[in-house]
Amino acid sequence: MKKIKVGVLGGYRGTSMINYSKQANNVELVAICDKSQEVLERQKENLKGENIAFYDNFEDFIKHDMDAVVLANYANEHAPFAIKCLKAGKHVFSEVLPVQTMKEAVELIETIEQTGLVYAYGENYCYMPGPYEMRKLYREGKIGEFEYGEGEYVHNCGPIWHSITYGEENHWRNNMYATFYCTHSIGPLIHITGLRPVSVTGFESKMIKRHLDVGSKSGQFGIEMIELENGGIIKSIHGGLYKDSIWYSVYGSKGRMETAREDARAGGVHVIYVNSDKEECDYASGELVSYNPKNEQAAAAFGHGGSDFYSMYNFIEKILGNDEADTIDIYEALDMFLPGMFAYRSVLNGGIPMEIPNLRNKEEREKYRNDVMCTDPEVAGDQYIPVFSKGNPEIDPAVYEKMRLMWEKESGANSGYTRAAFKQGSKTN
Ligand SMILES: NC(=O)c1ccc[n+]([C@@H]2O[C@H](COP(=O)([O-])OP(=O)(O)OC[C@H]3O[C@@H](n4cnc5c(N)ncnc54)[C@H](O)[C@@H]3O)[C@@H](O)[C@H]2O)c1
Repeated sequence: MKKIKVGVLGGYRGTSMINYSKQANNVELVAICDKSQEVLERQKENLKGENIAFYDNFEDFIKHDMDAVVLANYANEHAPFAIKCLKAGKHVFSEVLPVQTMKEAVELIETIEQTGLVYAYGENYCYMPGPYEMRKLYREGKIGEFEYGEGEYVHNCGPIWHSITYGEENHWRNNMYATFYCTHSIGPLIHITGLRPVSVTGFESKMIKRHLDVGSKSGQFGIEMIELENGGIIKSIHGGLYKDSIWYSVYGSKGRMETAREDARAGGVHVIYVNSDKEECDYASGELVSYNPKNEQAAAAFGHGGSDFYSMYNFIEKILGNDEADTIDIYEALDMFLPGMFAYRSVLNGGIPMEIPNLRNKEEREKYRNDVMCTDPEVAGDQYIPVFSKGNPEIDPAVYEKMRLMWEKESGANSGYTRAAFKQGSKTN
């Protein structure tokens, strides 16, 4: 059997993809790159006895003999690395988010089109059992035409902020605006319906002390109200409210379906409730659902309801030439992300609706070729926008020092939390 040689950039979240490679018989993990010595040392220990090359810099790593690269580096730096990998002839699996600027979006699309290589966006929440079954029912026409839907990704990361930002004032998690990290809530609804977003109105919540106390500079949560090409509306909410929630609902012209609310303790995203006319759908309400029974056992060991397994599984299948492989291409990835990017532009413009460009059309790309507006000063230059719409908050450097010390203490002591999270490849998100 042909084995796809895979390299992984970023050894925290990258652990999930490393673990995938360990158990799949058509993948060979050949190289890992992380600029952090500590991360490299831990991976060496994790992979003791295996024939894997370790790199502390991308320039040497990309020269390694491999077919594909998994990008699990910083969330705002995926596109430049994806472009370099594609130009070096490697297929790319990109963690969330796909791009930081519109300029990157245009460049990335054009590089993918020119190289013809596989680009798969790792929006794993689309592959959670509930949303995936909702996709199947929607595509079978059981719910009718999409009219309204909601997606929630609420995660209170406050208690672990030190271990996901390491006391770095400019870690991407401290510098992301309220509507940036939007594809866990929007993505599944786009993947269920296949409909393109055409306009968005954004909302930014206030800043709160709980967040400022750990060094986050943005509003507590963001909301996107998105109009789709068929006139249907999505409400997406994501961010750091106090109690976590992952939840999706879809109303169609023939019925409604939704995953279980966390507080119902009924199985969360593993369960869907369907309420549609009997002749359309005799799905038993509240039944446990599974996406692909064939792989159920393998997926069970993976994070985020087994979805971490399926995003990688489909990527490898696609490279191997399986046309049925359900990957998320760059156009769909941008349908999931641009609503968040333009929602913030809506906020910055006083809450007016913003049109969402369709970069599938070559002529629409010209307007954005030099658009580097973002919250990263080095990338944005004079197009810099603040992390909070009314201006960045003043945060005492002592806050970041405290976070750094907490992180050092935790990682130095190799606390149970850190070690377990490292093995599973997900501290958060
Ligand atoms: N899909 C999910 O469920 C999920 C869950 C967690 C994280 N993520 C995503 O995974 C990515 C990584 O997040 P994380 O939690 O591991 O934290 P992180 O972003 O702090 O870690 C990134 C790692 O990449 C390394 N790195 C960054 N730039 C590098 C470079 N140029 N060269 C070499 N190494 C480099 C860092 O040293 C670090 O170890 C982010 O994009 C995040 O959005 C996704």
